[in-house]
Amino acid sequence: MHDLENIKIIIDSDRKLYEIHSFIRKTIDIFLVPILNRLPRGLFRKSSKKAETVNKHATTHRALEVIYSFNNQVNFEKGIFDGFFTYFWQKTSHAKALRNRLKLVKRELLKAIHSLNKKEIKILNLACGSNRAVIEVVGMHKNDFDFKVFGMDKNESAIEDAKALTTAFDVDHLFSWHQNTVSGFLKEAEQAQFDIVEMVGFLDYVPDEKAVFLFDQIYSVLADGGFFITGNIKDNKERRFVTEVVGWPHLIFRSENDLARILKQSKFKDAATHIVYEPHNIHGVVVCKK
Ligand SMILES: C[S@@+](CC[C@H](N)C(=O)[O-])C[C@H]1O[C@@H](n2cnc3c(N)ncnc32)[C@H](O)[C@@H]1O
Repeated sequence: MHDLENIKIIIDSDRKLYEIHSFIRKTIDIFLVPILNRLPRGLFRKSSKKAETVNKHATTHRALEVIYSFNNQVNFEKGIFDGFFTYFWQKTSHAKALRNRLKLVKRELLKAIHSLNKKEIKILNLACGSNRAVIEVVGMHKNDFDFKVFGMDKNESAIEDAKALTTAFDVDHLFSWHQNTVSGFLKEAEQAQFDIVEMVGFLDYVPDEKAVFLFDQIYSVLADGGFFITGNIKDNKERRFVTEVVGWPHLIFRSENDLARILKQSKFKDAATHIVYEPHNIHGVVVCKK
């Protein structure tokens, strides 16, 4: 617990904002989750077209977009079996927690934007994927602030899809794109200063030592008073379902203590920090103010 000194840990259970399990679903899950954790991967992959896409593109923005873009409707266009399973997988704690993370990141981004107390805001989105959180927030508030956003990812198709999303939100003129690795980009951007650096969905794959190194690089490019927003998945009861059944590899599950330890070893050790968990307590979002 010592490492958590000065780091505020919050579970945000805003029922109006997030997708939460009902009491009945929580009771069903006592029996269902052990079954989910033991399902064969082939069954998941073959159960629906969307499940196949998530399995095939696990760890990328393509898999995330399948989950982010779920509209809460059952769709039988591809058959009853496909429609049922697509809906069923989207209602697991993991899928709900991912959509909750998106909402939580948007909420923290907006808080950071307002508390900067200025009009010109420079945002860097590292390993941006489809860049959805930043694009939606910038899209909603483009008339109130002068945004300049730098989106970077090592994958060309992520950048292409993110560009398409900026066009849909009519904010393409506010974004520039950089195909690079996170550490490569940060090295080249050494002299730059950003008001907000967002790196969500990436720390989950980075070992501790590399994470400390990246945090130090991020600290250097963050303006005084600026915000660093990141996140990490935490150990949970559906862990085996995600890693073995859905087939999402290389995840490093971290508790709030693990995150605090990394932060304390980095230049963010004295930064005002809080970690907010969405209601399923699966995804945590870290916010550090320099
Ligand atoms: C799980 S996705 C997260 C996307 C987005 N940030 C989100 O939360 O929706 C991980 C992203 O990291 C990118 N990526 C993986 N390794 C990378 C690296 N070394 N440097 C830059 N991007 C990387 C992938 O291309 C992918 O778009």
